[in-house]
Parts: sequence; structure tokens; C-alpha cells
Amino acid sequence: MTELAIETSGLVKSFGDNRAVDGLDLSVPAGIVYGVLGPNGAGKTTAVRMLATLLRPDGGQARVFGHDVRREADAVRARVSLTGQYASVDEDLSGMENLVLLARLLGHRKPAARDRARELLEAFGLTEAADRLVKNYSGGMRRRLDIAASILNTPDLLFLDEPTTGLDPRSRNQVWDIIRIVVAHGTTVLLTTQYLEEADRLAGRIAVIDHGKVIAEGTPGRLKSSIGAGAVHVRLRDAAQRPEAERLLSAALGTHVYLEADPVALTARVAGADNGERVAAEQASLALAELARAGIVVDDFSLGQPSLDEVFLALTDRPASEKEIAA
Ligand SMILES: Nc1ncnc2c1ncn2[C@@H]1O[C@H](COP(=O)(O)OP(=O)(O)OP(=O)(O)O)[C@@H](O)[C@H]1O
Ligand SMILES: [Mg+2]
Repeated sequence: MTELAIETSGLVKSFGDNRAVDGLDLSVPAGIVYGVLGPNGAGKTTAVRMLATLLRPDGGQARVFGHDVRREADAVRARVSLTGQYASVDEDLSGMENLVLLARLLGHRKPAARDRARELLEAFGLTEAADRLVKNYSGGMRRRLDIAASILNTPDLLFLDEPTTGLDPRSRNQVWDIIRIVVAHGTTVLLTTQYLEEADRLAGRIAVIDHGKVIAEGTPGRLKSSIGAGAVHVRLRDAAQRPEAERLLSAALGTHVYLEADPVALTARVAGADNGERVAAEQASLALAELARAGIVVDDFSLGQPSLDEVFLALTDRPASEKEIAA
């Protein structure tokens, strides 16, 4: 049996009458990236804070490597590290100074602290910026330094709370590479995110949470096959051909085709399969070939992964963003 890094059952945390975490059941196997996907206010940070022993649960159970987060908080703390959504390095110190300071606080002697800091700065592409003040770092550099700080001592479990929110695509890719390195060294990572694409690329398993509860769980492939692997967006040369294109796409893909407000545009969900994108791409290209055969001119098309909104539409019949309006 695989060891569980995290096991919760019926975990609850309320703020007043708001049940931020409302009966959360999670089983996170050790050694993987586990993605927790959910919109703003779903309860991700609250759950992470309880698991990292920073917040006391109101009900239910939570164990980290078998240790109860309430009764054995010290044992849990000895094995975890947290990079918060709102990070904690000191703006008025350089990257090097931050890492050395934190390493000293963790009990490393000065030469060892400097060695470890240098090694991490190098691994995270921050050597050149080592002596620059953190307040002059870009968002991506800052995020990489946060992760470096949280793995000064290699933790058995690392919580990364939305580590790429607000980053540009290049910085996001760098953070993804770092996460892959961390996991390759044996650390289990609990990654919260609002991006299906991110969870899909990194995570071995994903839990989708909403209103403090798990509403879907499984491998990315399973999840995508339950919600559709993506959507194909097509733009025609001639609006008059749209009814015919709608009929052909619908028949080829076996799904409903949405007619967009733009009279030449159509969107269709592409059903998935366990082995993911290739199947979706194949289906989409076969459908496009049908259009070509019927003499319908396609000016532009794209195949995209479903967005968080599409995931939520498929799982709950409402987009994730509606939650904000209701709240
Ligand atoms: N300290 C607090 N006091 C009162 N309410 C809180 C507190 N922390 C969180 N909440 C509420 O609990 C709910 C869950 O918040 P949480 O921060 O866990 O969500 P999240 O999934 O991390 O969202 P985001 O993606 O925006 O970070 C929200 O309704 C939030 O307003
Ligand atoms: Mg949060």
C-alpha cells in the first residue's frame, strides 16, 4: 500500500457562519504533485493552513504522514513546509541574505547556510540577482525565491498555494520546472491552483473543490474525460455556411455545437479519453476534414483545454465565476 502524505475526513473550518472548509475528504499519496483546483473562495488556503498546523480545524480529522494535525502538530511541522499565496521573504534584504538568514534560523551553521543558499540560487536561476534587494525582484523571481526558501531543508511535504497566480507564461514555466525538480527529489507537493492546465501538467492526481468540498477527484486524464478534453473553436469565411458547419461538426464530434455571437464562429466541446490531448486533437482534425470535404472554408481554428469555468460548468452546471457574484 502506498503511504499517504495527507489524509483528511470530514474536515471543517468555519468563519462565523461561513463554512470555508465544509467536510473535506482528501487522500494524497506520497511522492507526487497533488493538485487542488478551485475558484476564489473555494477554501484552498484555509485547507492548506489547517494541514500546515497554522489554523485549528473545527471538526473532522486531518493526518499528515499519519500524524494528527491537532494532537501531533510538532511532528507535522517537522515534515512540512509552506509557500504561502502571500509570501514571506523580507523585501529589504537581498535574495542571498534572505536564504542565509532562514537557513541560520533552521539551525545551519554559517558556512553551510551560505553553501545551501548559493546552491538554491543557482538551481533557481537567481545567481545574478543574489545580491539585489528582493523589493527589486520581478514577480517571477520573487516566487522562485519563495519556493527556494521553503525547501532550504528538504521537506517531505511542500504546500504551494497558487505559486503561479499572476505570473507571466515564462515565469510560470520556470516555477513548473522547479516543482518538477522538487518532486524528483522525493518531496510530495500539494499544489493549489485556479488553472486546470497547471494541475494537468504537473499533478498526478487532482481534487476539484468548491464551497469547501471535493466535487471531483482523480487523475488528470480521468478528470478531463469526464468533462471533455477541450473545445474546438472554428471561424468560417462565410457566415451562410454556418448551419451546415454546425451540422457536420455536431455529427463528427458527437457533441453540442455552440453558435457564438460572432456570426462566423462556432465552438464545440471535444470529448476526451483517458490518454488525453492526442485523442482530442485527432477528433478535432477529423471534424475539420469533414468541413473541408463539404467545401466549407475555415479561416481559423484552435483547440484549447477546458478552462476552470468549463470544468465547473461540466461538474456543477454553473461557471466558477458565478460563485463570486453569489458570495
Ligand atoms: N481569516 C478569515 N476570516 C474570515 N473569513 C475567511 C478567513 N479566511 C478565509 N475566509 C473565507 O473563507 C472562504 C474560503 O477562503 P480561502 O481563502 O480558503 O479560499 P481560496 O480557495 O484560497 O481562494 P483564493 O483562490 O481566492 O485564494 C472565503 O469565503 C473567505 O472569505
Ligand atoms: Mg487562497
